[in-house]
Amino acid sequence: MAEPETSAKIIDGKAYAERLRAQVGRDVAQLKADYKLQPGLAVVLVGEDPASQIYVRSKGEHSLAAGMHSVTHRLPADVAQAELLRLIGDLNTDPAIHGILVQLPLPKGLDERQVLAAINPDKDVDGLHVVNAGRLASGLPALTPCTPAGCMILLRETLGDLTGLRAVVVGRSVLVGRPIAQLLLQADCTVTIAHSRTRDLAAVCREADILVAAVGRPRMIRGDWIKPGAAVIDVGINRVPFDDPVKAAAGKTKVVGDVDFKEASRVAGWITPVPGGVGLMTVAVLLQNTVTAARRLAGID
Ligand code: GUN
Repeated sequence: MAEPETSAKIIDGKAYAERLRAQVGRDVAQLKADYKLQPGLAVVLVGEDPASQIYVRSKGEHSLAAGMHSVTHRLPADVAQAELLRLIGDLNTDPAIHGILVQLPLPKGLDERQVLAAINPDKDVDGLHVVNAGRLASGLPALTPCTPAGCMILLRETLGDLTGLRAVVVGRSVLVGRPIAQLLLQADCTVTIAHSRTRDLAAVCREADILVAAVGRPRMIRGDWIKPGAAVIDVGINRVPFDDPVKAAAGKTKVVGDVDFKEASRVAGWITPVPGGVGLMTVAVLLQNTVTAARRLAGID
């Protein structure tokens, strides 16, 4: 009998993201009805990176669809740092804005740390300000980075209680690796953060009941790196040429994750596809964070 193509169950990020966005839409309607409060999100895009343009458009469209006030500020790649900081200062004091997100990466020449530090931590719906990162690491309530929070929703929906599970996070970025390790720790997992200098990365990954891949290297995690039955969360969004040489020669590209999906799905118990997995959760959590920020800023429980 032919071997089945896939044994892992697919974690349907699209469905969970739709559900969360619908919930946010109801929360927004309630805030409007009860408090005349319309959560407002400002997204700042500097430069013309094609992927960032797509993400930013999606954030604007979904925030409007949820009933929020939404503004997108587009600045040229050669904008002066001082001008960007001035815009953030204006958004910090704008009463119609409860959430501010500066799309990363910023073009060369801009100081990312200084920009993130300029955002009012109470409006930092990206959870990247050191105050929110510190609160998260201290186990205090914080605005939490969107992609990691989205991964945690998928894991809890899939596995339920995560207590005692061994989690391996591959990648130590401020955006994903570090905060998701903190969230897994809060969920009582035993957490390892692996990275480019980790010795025998494959063996470390094979210990994982939960494997989170956030390295930004296409299909780096192979099938034989995965413990049979593990839950695999693939955060990678990498653009690569098509396998088909004719399409590749025509310059066509497709998006793949950090995990070799074909191999991994024969071994894992659950796996997120790319696209259609984690990526869609990021925007949904951003909307949820904006509602949370609006409530807190207005002093509503
Ligand atoms: N670029 C890719 N993902 C993100 C994100 O979650 N937040 C920001 N600010 N930039 C990103």
